[in-house]
Amino acid sequence: MSQGESTAQATPTTISVELGSRSYDILVGRDIIDRAGMEIARRLPDARIAIVTDETVAAHHLTTLVASLDGAGIRHTRIVITPGEASKSFASLERVVDALLESRIERNDAVLAFGGGVVGDLAGFASGIVLRGTHLIQVPTTLLAQVDSSVGGKTGINTPRGKNLVGVFHQPDLVLADAGILDSLPPRIFNAGYAEVAKYGLIRDAGFFAWLETNWRSVAAGWPEREKAIAVACRGKAEIVSEDEREKGARALLNLGHTFGHALEAVTGYSDRLLHGEAVSIGTVLAFDFSFRLGLSGLEDARRVEAHLGEVGLPTRIGQIEGDLPDAATLMHHIAQDKKVAQGKLTFILTRGIGEAFIARDVPSDEVEAFLEEQLAK
Ligand code: GLY
Repeated sequence: MSQGESTAQATPTTISVELGSRSYDILVGRDIIDRAGMEIARRLPDARIAIVTDETVAAHHLTTLVASLDGAGIRHTRIVITPGEASKSFASLERVVDALLESRIERNDAVLAFGGGVVGDLAGFASGIVLRGTHLIQVPTTLLAQVDSSVGGKTGINTPRGKNLVGVFHQPDLVLADAGILDSLPPRIFNAGYAEVAKYGLIRDAGFFAWLETNWRSVAAGWPEREKAIAVACRGKAEIVSEDEREKGARALLNLGHTFGHALEAVTGYSDRLLHGEAVSIGTVLAFDFSFRLGLSGLEDARRVEAHLGEVGLPTRIGQIEGDLPDAATLMHHIAQDKKVAQGKLTFILTRGIGEAFIARDVPSDEVEAFLEEQLAK
């Protein structure tokens, strides 16, 4: 089917996140925003909806969402925030919570997060704490949010001491991932999300990674490979979240590439200099190279991962980050502040090869620092 062809009748792919009485569906497909009203009315028949979105998403897509809610007879209000990571703050949280209370939201109503990861994390947190919790619908509009942050119930804000350090687990009632809405994403933002798609293949689905190596151009171009990639990634996340909702075990696997990545984000000021997904891309290659250095996995897999992420257009080496970087000791300082530290021991997601990630506790910090020194010298 060509990209421009109407697929309004197409049935979306449904993935269930199994969490007992709190289980919910992720719907993936094109034109999902058009059917949002119908899907919400079916699941939350009497809820009013408080849409939380940002100025950019509102300008491009709010009319479509509102028409869908109106068509289903759903009452709604809207709260529009400033785009960008700076909105994940106590000040923005206070504004959103205040606006929700002013709209007289009730517990059986729903917050609908309509945007990328910033909107999802902020609106999800507000939904989790206002009136001690309302319903939540995630309608992610970036690839990264569709395959990662909108699924699994992690919500939160940043503080000057670090990213995502304040928040709650608050599962949504429904996730609506519209593969078509990604047509309007700038390539750099799309690619940043792609790093998280590839992650699911690298963690425990080597067949999916091989499929991506062959089909990534079609995933970027659109239908139907993009929908398949989002669905496979969401299924991977749903399985892990169902196994380990609170990150006591397997969920930590989703942090592949993130410990190195978060340190690189921290030293580049969480800015456009290095997007989260770009940091994850470099961090993932570092995790494979570090695993090779420790004798855990082969060099061939590390080079295959680097070749694929590089081909897609993602940075894969620390040396590709523009501007000066601090030394290995400073990177270690940020690694030690990461949430993946328990009782002072470093926890890394390492690998025995593509599709064989595992949680390594007690990773010696001097080995990590020596490895980073080598990488910085390249
Ligand atoms: N983004 C990692 C997680 O949801 O656990």
